[in-house]
Amino acid sequence: MELTNIPYLASSSSSSFYSSYSRCTCRGKRAGNLVITASAAGGRCAADLACSQLVEQQNEDALSGPRSSWHYRRREFASAIFLPLLLPHVDVSSAAETYNESIIRSGVRNVLTKAKAAGVLRLVFHDAGTFDVSDKSGGMNGSIIYEVDRPENTGLNRSIKILGKAKAGIDDIQKVSWADLIAVAGAEAVALCGGPEIPVRLGRLDSSTADPAGKLPEETLDAAALKTLFSTKGFSPQEMVVLSGAHTIGGKGFGSPIVFDNTYFKVLLEKKPQTSSSGMEAMVGLRTDWALTEDDECLRWIRIYAEDQARFFDDFRAAYIKLVGSGATWRTA
Ligand code: HEM
Repeated sequence: MELTNIPYLASSSSSSFYSSYSRCTCRGKRAGNLVITASAAGGRCAADLACSQLVEQQNEDALSGPRSSWHYRRREFASAIFLPLLLPHVDVSSAAETYNESIIRSGVRNVLTKAKAAGVLRLVFHDAGTFDVSDKSGGMNGSIIYEVDRPENTGLNRSIKILGKAKAGIDDIQKVSWADLIAVAGAEAVALCGGPEIPVRLGRLDSSTADPAGKLPEETLDAAALKTLFSTKGFSPQEMVVLSGAHTIGGKGFGSPIVFDNTYFKVLLEKKPQTSSSGMEAMVGLRTDWALTEDDECLRWIRIYAEDQARFFDDFRAAYIKLVGSGATWRTA
């Protein structure tokens, strides 16, 4: 079913845009968050509800196998009748412009949990982090789906599989690129764990081949080498430090694995790397995390973010937006 067939949702699916978003005022739970620009609160909730129901239905369909064309025609007809009724106060032009991201965000929320958030956020870095400014190769282009066998991507197939379920449901409504899906999913993962809300521009095109290998940082790099590597991707030391704050979630031992806050920076300041009884491996964090504390410039940023979580959130949001734009090719029409 194409939402573009529904007059009220006649879509801007071919244009690139930043979608604005806001929190639903009448439903508290996260699944009720709104990602649609509309002119009235009533319209917003109806739109969000309709959208999630459609995505949920599509997900069910994806899992339960093909249905008859009559089934789809019946649902399309029902949608055409009822969606306009559900959206009585929506400013049609802005709803049409912003519905796309709403559908993607709802589809992602259907499959994302806090426990899965870290893996999904890591996926963003491993897709975008292949970017090289010198020849404009790599970047946020969905090529990670061809790169899961690389050693640096171990474990990411789980996150791809999770997002694949969302993609199947969303694709039935409107095609979404892997690159857009991963970018939105990372932002959702951050927000779900209590981090900043991050708007995501849509319209990235996917690559049909793997990116060049050997572009992601190895765990053995020192601060100077990390700074050099991140500069080849267009990132300053400050942006590198703030993005590394993503390690605050996940299994590296910086506070709660499902809470996105500035604990990462506090731990880096307060603790020395702890070693296991064999003395072989740091128990908390990676060598690269601790390497940041040995560089004066990086340490200055670690102190700033340890003291000021709001500053961390603001700077992380900005750096994330830059990361998910790295090397992207955008739809033009
Ligand atoms: C500074 C260079 C970086 C290095 C060397 C690095 C390397 C790693 C490694 C080795 C892991 C552990 C994977 C595992 O447990 O299997 C990890 C986890 C993670 N990385 Fe990075 N990373 C870096 C920067 C980043 C950035 C910039 C982001 C995102 C913006 C990021 C997001 C994550 C997340 C969220 C996890 C936790 C995954 C989980 O526990 O499931 N990393 N990283």
